Amino acid sequence: MHAIDVHLDADELSRALRTDVTTGLTTDPKSLPPKWFYDARGSELFEQITELREYYPTRTERQILTDRAADIARHTRATSLLELGSGYSTKTRLLLDALTATGTLETFVPMDVSPTALTAAADRITADYPGLRVHNVVGDMTRHLKHLPTGGDRLIAFLGGTIGNLVPAERAAFLADVRAVLEPGEHLLLGTDLVKSPSVVVPAYDDASGVTAEFNRNVLRVLNNSLDADFDLEGFAHVALWDPDHEWIEMRLRARWPMRVTIPGVDLVVDFAAGEEVRTEVSAKFRREGVERELAEAGFSLDHWWTDPDGLFALSLSTAVPQG
Ligand code: AVJ
Repeated sequence: MHAIDVHLDADELSRALRTDVTTGLTTDPKSLPPKWFYDARGSELFEQITELREYYPTRTERQILTDRAADIARHTRATSLLELGSGYSTKTRLLLDALTATGTLETFVPMDVSPTALTAAADRITADYPGLRVHNVVGDMTRHLKHLPTGGDRLIAFLGGTIGNLVPAERAAFLADVRAVLEPGEHLLLGTDLVKSPSVVVPAYDDASGVTAEFNRNVLRVLNNSLDADFDLEGFAHVALWDPDHEWIEMRLRARWPMRVTIPGVDLVVDFAAGEEVRTEVSAKFRREGVERELAEAGFSLDHWWTDPDGLFALSLSTAVPQG
């Protein structure tokens, strides 16, 4: 049995898309927020990315979780697991298994913008974990955290390195919001991709088989489908660029030739010069000191920092500390 709370309906989602597109494509330089990659096709392409030889984050994080899930369960003794941006909840099962084995877990609360992903996952999880209460929350984790259920000892999990898709000011606001919904003593499990040689990072975002390029261009397909736009996907080249000052990788779409694009859904005509770029994603890479500082500034103390032997990716477990 599972419950579902909806804080984000189709109208609201489409309003948010229209605002983001209007702002992003009328500002110089042009940009589009990465959350619009993930329609059904985009989510499928992302699944394919996670299986690429070049894309190390997913398999590395899964290995760390496999090794540390029992430690996490013992340390937190959580009665509820709240997962942000849970998608299909595949890695989450490692946590559910460990928390079930420890005997503390009662409730699983996956939060995602996609009701389809949530209900599909919830059906399978309900079947596999008898007695577990699954409480789905359809919402945007940057706006609807305050609707997460309270009570018990909660563990919020935010995995995949997705926090890196927020720029520093957005991260600070987001972590403060996460802290605000927790009581002192409750926990946050955070996955962060680590700073490493660009010769490793760049191929992870520009794979030889071109799956990431397709994923990047998919945001234009989303605009074509939902706003009736006429982007010619062939006219945009995939660019992945390491920015050493910000220590993030940036994905862009570069116009191969001059183009005029009509976007009826927002009543907009947008001109692209040859070579002009649209920023579609930043994916920040972290160092331990930075993660620890950002967490502390939000009111968390870092208890554990776990990485893989090659130091590619880190999982950190923090406790919410009393606020002054
Ligand atoms: C959503 C954070 C897991 O930034 O690595 C994959 C999305 N973008 N390839 C990331 C992504 C390009 C991904 N995460």
